[in-house]
Amino acid sequence: MYTNIHPKLEETSKTSIESILNHNQITTFPKNSKSTNRPAPIDKEINLDPSKSIMSKTDARGIIEYANDYFMEISGYEEYELMGQPHNIIRHPDMPQVIFKLMWDRLNKGENIHAFVKNLAKDGRYYWVLTNFETKYDEEGIIISHYARRKAAPKNAIYSIDKLYKTLRAIERRQGLETSEKYLMGLLEEKQVTYDAFILNLLNIDTAVMDSYFGPIATKNYKTNKSPKRGFMSRLFK
Ligand SMILES: Cc1cc2nc3c(=O)[nH]c(=O)nc-3n(C[C@H](O)[C@H](O)[C@H](O)COP(=O)(O)O)c2cc1C
Repeated sequence: MYTNIHPKLEETSKTSIESILNHNQITTFPKNSKSTNRPAPIDKEINLDPSKSIMSKTDARGIIEYANDYFMEISGYEEYELMGQPHNIIRHPDMPQVIFKLMWDRLNKGENIHAFVKNLAKDGRYYWVLTNFETKYDEEGIIISHYARRKAAPKNAIYSIDKLYKTLRAIERRQGLETSEKYLMGLLEEKQVTYDAFILNLLNIDTAVMDSYFGPIATKNYKTNKSPKRGFMSRLFK
């Protein structure tokens, strides 16, 4: 379902697409790579420090290659437990599959997505994050890595998101992913908004505020855990 192809490549001829496939440059997202021994979820939240970022870098298929200290602190995993693992190691069972489908559809096109994600820590507790991504390509336009910066999800949006995700999960359990995707699209159509506008509306902010919440990503200040200037988003956590 999840493929890894740069938009430019979509226009290339069948022959070149075949040759890319032959070189294993297009990958199917590894659906069978579930981490074993998943922790049992418990109904306890870990509150994040809104001034800090949880960062990770993966290969094109979402295999973890780097995670910062705050990732380890919050998830409860050590480096040796995370590196080389699929990112679904912290997937919470309350998360609807359709959100990850949306995420991968964007990432495979090199696009960013701000998604609310409920993650599962090693001890079974959960923490809500808001995501921000950057994709890196090699000289041939093939995706080589994804950088994710996650920050604390503002509390004012969690109630509505949690409610929506419960609905989506229930639909997925009974009717499958396709039906939950239709429901989500129907909801956006009814509200006459794009997914991105829906998220901004929930937070009651505009794109500029969202961008300033995350600040420059990855390669620019990848090694630092510096927060951007305390702005509107940070004030939501007061
Ligand atoms: C850079 C990057 C960061 C990701 N961060 C998360 C995350 O924080 N939590 C999560 O559940 N999935 C995250 N994912 C998505 C996972 O790879 C995976 O699609 C998701 O956990 C659903 O897994 P499943 O379809 O195997 O159940 C991330 C993927 C990438 C590429």
